[in-house]
Order: sequence, then C-alpha cells, then structure tokens
Amino acid sequence: MKNELNALKNEAIDYIPKVKSESELDQVRVDFLGKKGKLTKILKSLGSLSANERPLVGQLSNEIKQFITEQINKKKEEFRVAAQSESIRKESIDISLPGRQPSIGYLHPITQVIQEITHIFKRLGFQVAEGPELEEEYYNFDALNLPKNHPARDEQDSFYITSDKLLRTQTSPVQIRVMEKQRPPIAIISPGRCFRRDAMDATHSHTFHQIEGLAVDKDISFADLKGILHLFAKQMFGSSTQTRFRPDFFPFTEPSGEFAITCFICHGKKCRVCKGTGWIELGGCGLVDPAVFGFVNIDPEEYSGYAFGMGIERLAMAKYGVPDIRMFYENDIRFLEQF
Ligand code: DAH
Repeated sequence: MKNELNALKNEAIDYIPKVKSESELDQVRVDFLGKKGKLTKILKSLGSLSANERPLVGQLSNEIKQFITEQINKKKEEFRVAAQSESIRKESIDISLPGRQPSIGYLHPITQVIQEITHIFKRLGFQVAEGPELEEEYYNFDALNLPKNHPARDEQDSFYITSDKLLRTQTSPVQIRVMEKQRPPIAIISPGRCFRRDAMDATHSHTFHQIEGLAVDKDISFADLKGILHLFAKQMFGSSTQTRFRPDFFPFTEPSGEFAITCFICHGKKCRVCKGTGWIELGGCGLVDPAVFGFVNIDPEEYSGYAFGMGIERLAMAKYGVPDIRMFYENDIRFLEQF
C-alpha cells in the first residue's frame, strides 16, 4: 500500500504542473482526493493491514493528501496571478510611463496683437467700441462718404447678404455708429473682423482684422493725429521707431494719409520684411471729412477729428516674421504654439 501511495504522489507530481485550466484543476482534485478518488480507493484496503502498520500508512496517506492539496493550491495561485496580469495588460496602463503633460491653450497671435494695440490706446484715454460684422450698406459706405458709384462698393469687393446688408469691408463704419450715439469729445478704437471678396493668397484673405481709431473734439489737428500714432508706434515697436506720413486718398478723411514705421526688424537697414524699403506701412489715416460729420449731425465748424485704420494681419506678419497670411487661419497647433 505504501508503494501505491508513493506512486499516487509521483503521478500527482507529474500531472499537476501540466494542467492547463482552473476547471481541469478542479477535476484533478476530484480525481485524486474526492470521495470516489484515487486516494480513497487506496485507503479502502486499510482494514487489511496489521494494527502496527495501519497508523504509519494512515500518516503517510495524510502527508500525501496534504502534499497533493498543496500542489493543487500552488497551481491555482499560478492561474490567479496569470489572470490578474492579463487583466492589467488589457487595461493597458503602464505605470512606469512618464505622466502626460496636459496641453495648455494660448491666445491666437492675432488676438495677442489686438490686445497689445488696445492696451496702448486705452492708456492714452481711448475707449473700445464695437460694431456688427454684418453691416448695413449705409454705415459701411454711404455715411463714410463713399458715393454709390465708388469701385469699393462693387459686388466684386464685398459680400452682400441682401441688397442693403453686407459683411463689413472695414472697421470704419464703427466711426459712424459711435458718432451717432455719442457727442464729442470722442476717443475710441475698434478692433474687429472684416471681409472682402479677395482670392486667398500669401498676402490676401477674404477674412481679416482691422483696428479703427477715431478722436473728435474741438481744435483737433493733423498734428494730434501724427502725435498719437508716433507715440503708439514707439510703445508698440520700441522707442527708436520713426513714423512716416504720406498723402493718400480716402473718401471719409480730408486730408488723408498713409502711415508707416521704420522697419523694426532691420531698423531701416532694409530687409525681407520691409521688402528692402526700410519702412513698414501700417494703414490709412486722416482728418474726418466734414461730409462725414454731416451724416451724424456734428458741426464741422465747431468740431474736428482724426481717424486711422490699421491691418492687424499685416502687422502680425511683420512682427512675427510670418510669411503667409493663411497660416493664421489654419489652426495648425504647431504654428500657434510658437506665440
Ligand atoms: N478703412 C480703410 C481701409 O480699409 C482704412 C482707413 C483709412 C481707416 C483712413 C481710417 C482712415 O479710419 O482715416 O482701407
């Protein structure tokens, strides 16, 4: 009987490690140790042993039962660990990986430039005014002294929504809206989006931004206009910046000018940004045309004013050395992250 028991032990040693599943392991427990199992079968002939032998064989059989139970439990633990690591693998959490950096949002470069300009003019006493992007023809053209046959009113240049409503082509209509509501003294700036029927290329976009300025009071002269733009240029681009004013024409200002600053990249030495001229043109300006005052019932004998308008994209392109205006609108995170 001892031999039979030892043979059973060896069978278990041989068999248990090869078991492939938990259910198979349960079956092994039943086969070896169950009520009708192999051990019970062997122990049935315990009665035929002598009284001396019986306790020894009984002890051996207990040891073997314990041994087989341990082997089965060990195997069971192996299955449990394997199942656990499998479920960890499935969750695909690798706790040894470095943590993910949350990406932080930044202000769009156009927004940044608008904020910078606005900040400077606010400190000079200007208030921020807003106007609608979907504008009436009257404000966008008529009241700005743009006669009905002016080429800028051509449908080619504007997005008309109805016969008398269009997407504003400039921020200048805000001048009219402000002067309609407010009596002088007036000092406002108005940044915003504008729209023109331009084909997109490196320097043109159907949607772009301008910032408008308007000041109306008694005795305002061209010297005030030059002074304020000169001051602005120095604050925005550095104290060594020079300004240049040249005659131009706009229907709503008289006289009109275009203003430029010395190139802040090469400081007048001529580079790619200023196209070798040493100057960067920022926009148009002038003294408010008396005809415009007529539309808003401000007496041109009593009051005078200046106005100016700048293209924001052009300024941002020069400031950051951006070669193509379209980059501002593509929302490519690799581009936007640089500002
Ligand atoms: N609105 C003009 C444009 O889009 C720019 C401009 C010129 C604005 C002269 C002004 C100004 O206020 O006085 O081209």
